[in-house]
Amino acid sequence: MKIVIPGGTGQVGTILDRALTAAGHEVVVLTRRPVRERQIEWDGRTLGEWAEAIDGSDVVVNLAGRSVSCRYTAANLRAMMDSRVDSARVVGEAIASASRPPRVWLQMSTATIYAHRFDAPNDEATGALGGTEPRVPGYWAYSVDIARNWEQAQEEAETPHTRKVALRAAMVMSPDRGGVFDVLSWLARLGLGGPVAGGAQYVSWIHDHDFVRAVEFLIDRDDFSGPVNLAAPAPLPQRAFMRALRAAWGAPVGLPATRWMAELGAFALRSDTELLLKSRRVVPGRLLEAGFTFDHARWPQAAEDLVRRARGGRRSR
Ligand SMILES: NC(=O)c1ccc[n+]([C@@H]2O[C@H](COP(=O)([O-])OP(=O)(O)OC[C@H]3O[C@@H](n4cnc5c(N)ncnc54)[C@H](OP(=O)(O)O)[C@@H]3O)[C@@H](O)[C@H]2O)c1
Repeated sequence: MKIVIPGGTGQVGTILDRALTAAGHEVVVLTRRPVRERQIEWDGRTLGEWAEAIDGSDVVVNLAGRSVSCRYTAANLRAMMDSRVDSARVVGEAIASASRPPRVWLQMSTATIYAHRFDAPNDEATGALGGTEPRVPGYWAYSVDIARNWEQAQEEAETPHTRKVALRAAMVMSPDRGGVFDVLSWLARLGLGGPVAGGAQYVSWIHDHDFVRAVEFLIDRDDFSGPVNLAAPAPLPQRAFMRALRAAWGAPVGLPATRWMAELGAFALRSDTELLLKSRRVVPGRLLEAGFTFDHARWPQAAEDLVRRARGGRRSR
């Protein structure tokens, strides 16, 4: 298949590009700064020659969006919103104007669309969307608005010959440098990977291998459209999540951090505490119902596999 990945130069794009290319597909990446073969320039906002790559392709997986690992200033929040909505809209325009449109358009969304909650897991059918939770910082609602508008941009696109799926993905865990697993591992190995603000908030995650398998599954299944949760079936409280990660690295100590220490740490890392403190309890209702099985369903075993691969990678480097 010819698979086009707008925004495919980042963490998730690298995982998909690597796996889909290895599986024998022709992968083309749209980027604002092409540096190698199979990369085509676009601006993520306006139609241009790049749209020719989409015409005649089989699959589009749009991942473009300003990184969420930043301070949530007004300017950054606006850039996070615009880059997602604009890129989804223009990908829709390219598909709509193609003479041979792709069969399926997988549009990245996020598990962050669901409410901050502890009591019950969120699946697609019964889950609560976020934005109105009491006692959470006001700007958390903005992240939910970003996700809603992002999905809406895809829904509104008039692409009658192309199936549309929104990927409500949890944190994708891979051993690659600079990804979320790498950052959390670094904290765990420094002895800083303890509970944050009590650690009761849930962490949803998905192993990179299962993420790729789920994407392949959704490409193949012609009966699937709309939002789909891409998360392992067993999200767990942050304190248990970090305990298992420490165990996988053989790091016995994990200093706890209070909310204000998390604020300080997030500030130092130029990141935001929402990423640490929001309880994301998201489960893959539709995938499980459709018979999809996870090779890495439990975090302790998934963490062991990721640590083994990270160690192997470091040795070979
Ligand atoms: N990583 C996760 O675990 C995870 C989980 C759920 C959802 N997501 C979402 O999935 C998408 C991909 O995640 P990722 O971790 O691979 O993100 P990433 O590493 O930040 O990569 C995103 C890509 O988007 C492009 N981009 C950035 N700003 C842009 C802009 N203003 N206009 C157009 N393109 C822009 C960049 O490509 P160029 O600079 O090459 O143009 C970049 O490579 C993101 O939207 C993210 O929010 C990620």
